[in-house]
Amino acid sequence: MLQSTAINTNGNATGVAEGTKQGTTGQAEKMDTNGMSPETGTSSQEQSANSVINIKGLSLTFETNDGPVHALSDIDLTINQGDFVSFIGPSGCGKTTLLRAVADLEQPTGGELWVNGVSAQQARLNRDYGYVFQAPALYPWRTIAGNISLPLEVMGIPKSERQDRIARNMELVNLSGFDKKYPWQLSGGMQQRASIARALSFDPELLLMDEPFGALDEIVRDHLNEQLLRLWDKTDKTVLFVTHSIPEAVFLSSKIVVMSPRPGRIYDVIDCNLPRDRGLDIREAPEFLEIAHRVREGLKEGHSYDD
Ligand SMILES: Nc1ncnc2c1ncn2[C@@H]1O[C@H](COP(=O)(O)OP(=O)(O)O)[C@@H](O)[C@H]1O
Ligand SMILES: [Mg+2]
Repeated sequence: MLQSTAINTNGNATGVAEGTKQGTTGQAEKMDTNGMSPETGTSSQEQSANSVINIKGLSLTFETNDGPVHALSDIDLTINQGDFVSFIGPSGCGKTTLLRAVADLEQPTGGELWVNGVSAQQARLNRDYGYVFQAPALYPWRTIAGNISLPLEVMGIPKSERQDRIARNMELVNLSGFDKKYPWQLSGGMQQRASIARALSFDPELLLMDEPFGALDEIVRDHLNEQLLRLWDKTDKTVLFVTHSIPEAVFLSSKIVVMSPRPGRIYDVIDCNLPRDRGLDIREAPEFLEIAHRVREGLKEGHSYDD
């Protein structure tokens, strides 16, 4: 499972190289997007200026030898620029599939999906997102700087600019000074920070993170949560973040999407308006506990215990 994830990381890097391939032109896609939400009453330019992800009636069914697997059904979701959106739900409810559809790594079987005002395919070709997997998936034969450099090399960025960007992104994830180390010389948490720096190296609008801290112990995870929150605050990226952890979701997010399984659906969308400069101690605050309670209730209600 983790191995295939690592291969996908490579696939993503290859996706970067495909930037010159023929796809639908961005312009044509933008015109299509304009027709999407006439009911908002805002002009399409205004809408696309603010919303980064538009999903309408999306479904995704995998055809398998045992018959169809309905991974996602009837998903409607809008994510605005600068949102930090967590997806939470039991295993198998389609969180990874949804993220992969946004990344153009899976093809929806129904509905609409727009990323940055264009199709998911065009957004991939435009290098609009960086993807962080549960396993850091760093190349062991490359240094940390060499790993962060890889997408930039694939894109043909000149060496001096590559060095600037590597230094900037290593600083952003507090890894300055570790550029010549190899992945095995770093702790799990530091490796995951390096993979975040790699995902940010080409300055994508969007950061897609699939349980990036799931394999780390709680203390390291707490620390990385604080760092990620600060990074989000500094860079104003739009983040889609998959997690199993209720406290992690509430601590990090401006919006929490609670999903239910078979088929994967959105059960609840919760706005979190906790102060932006929050620290971990906010986890004891009544407003935090109230949101955590609503997430927990949503997970309970949405879950079928038949099996
Ligand atoms: N490539 C695939 N082929 C067939 N079924 C798949 C494939 N990928 C995922 N699934 C199925 O789709 C459902 C959703 O999976 P996934 O998105 O990985 O869930 P989550 O990330 O929430 O645990 C599961 O039932 C899973 O077995
Ligand atoms: Mg998953």
